[in-house]
Amino acid sequence: MERQTCLILVIFTCLIASFCGRELQVKHNHKVAVYNHTLATILVEYASAVYVSDLTELFTWTCERCNGLTKGFEVIELVVDIENCLQAFVGVAKDLNAVVISFRGTQESSIQNWIEDLYWKQLDLHYPGMPDAMVHYGFYSAYHNTTIRHGILHAVKEAREFYGDLNIMVTGHSMGGAMASFCALDLTVNHEAKNVQVMTFGQPRIGNAAFASYYAKLVPNTIRVTNDHDIVPHLPPYYTYFPQKTYHHFPREVWLYNLGLGSMVYRVEKVCDGSGEDPTCSRSVRGNSVIDHLSYYGVDLKCQEWRSCRIVMDPRVSEYGKTDLKGNFILSRAPATSVLKTNTLSNGEEVKASA
Ligand SMILES: *[C@@H]1O[C@H](CO)[C@@H](O)[C@H](O)[C@H]1NC(C)=O
Ligand SMILES: *[C@@H]1O[C@H](CO)[C@@H](O)[C@H](O)[C@H]1NC(C)=O
Repeated sequence: MERQTCLILVIFTCLIASFCGRELQVKHNHKVAVYNHTLATILVEYASAVYVSDLTELFTWTCERCNGLTKGFEVIELVVDIENCLQAFVGVAKDLNAVVISFRGTQESSIQNWIEDLYWKQLDLHYPGMPDAMVHYGFYSAYHNTTIRHGILHAVKEAREFYGDLNIMVTGHSMGGAMASFCALDLTVNHEAKNVQVMTFGQPRIGNAAFASYYAKLVPNTIRVTNDHDIVPHLPPYYTYFPQKTYHHFPREVWLYNLGLGSMVYRVEKVCDGSGEDPTCSRSVRGNSVIDHLSYYGVDLKCQEWRSCRIVMDPRVSEYGKTDLKGNFILSRAPATSVLKTNTLSNGEEVKASA
């Protein structure tokens, strides 16, 4: 008797689950992104370095965070949007044969507040040229309607004119991941860039299912890494009941989590399905951790200290800069022309070196 009741309950639950679980599927793309662990551990260091607020160290690639797997990177342009507290750089990684573009995440005084706000973000902008595709205006405009976009596009052009047809790799953490996605799409759609590769860490959702579908077709070589219980990839929320109205991630997620107990814990890197919203990946757990948001692959993804838009710069480095009326500025140099060293800077000398 009891078994029967139980069976009925199970069948009933399955029915409800399959009914409610129907989701709008993002169309699969044949060119799928291949997850490369080694590349992830390199790109996460670029995503970490862009948080450095000492612009001299960042521009000359002498910061503490610039010394690991990214050694030898040549920064071509460093864009700082003071007005909106944004930071990004473009440079050439010869070992990757690529232009690397990296965007910083939010640097508000409280990351907690920034995360709480994410619950209420509306899909309030029609993405230009893509019927039915809706995105969040704030994320979109952080890339499109600030000094960032112009600076990035200019540097990518310079790098490719000098070095030839390099690959383009775009990365970023958190809000920086959202900007990286818009940048990759912009390069592909508006600037005829081919094979743009994207890897983001702990990025929020940025658009609806229609947008995710366009994105997946246009920038198929995208990996969206999520870490354990990181709260940010769960936001803005995904509502299964309103598949047309809700935010929807694009593929392909790679979910990092721990398996096992006590001393027998394994780190798993799970490559998820092509839907963008694989229910067996980060969505299978509650997103309730800020700590998991701030460190990926053991690399810190935050400023050394939370201060609002603080920057430090050697006045001599500012010779490489252009400042606009609002105080936003861009540090840039022609590819491979001069290599500044911090120690020679302090002597007031400039060392020219050929690459
Ligand atoms: C993974 O990326 C690294 C670094 O770019 C590269 O050296 C390696 O060949 C790649 N592995 C595969 C299997 O593509
Ligand atoms: C871009 O931002 C400025 C303020 O920084 C605003 O006045 C303008 O309306 C925005 N433009 C668009 C197209 O959203």
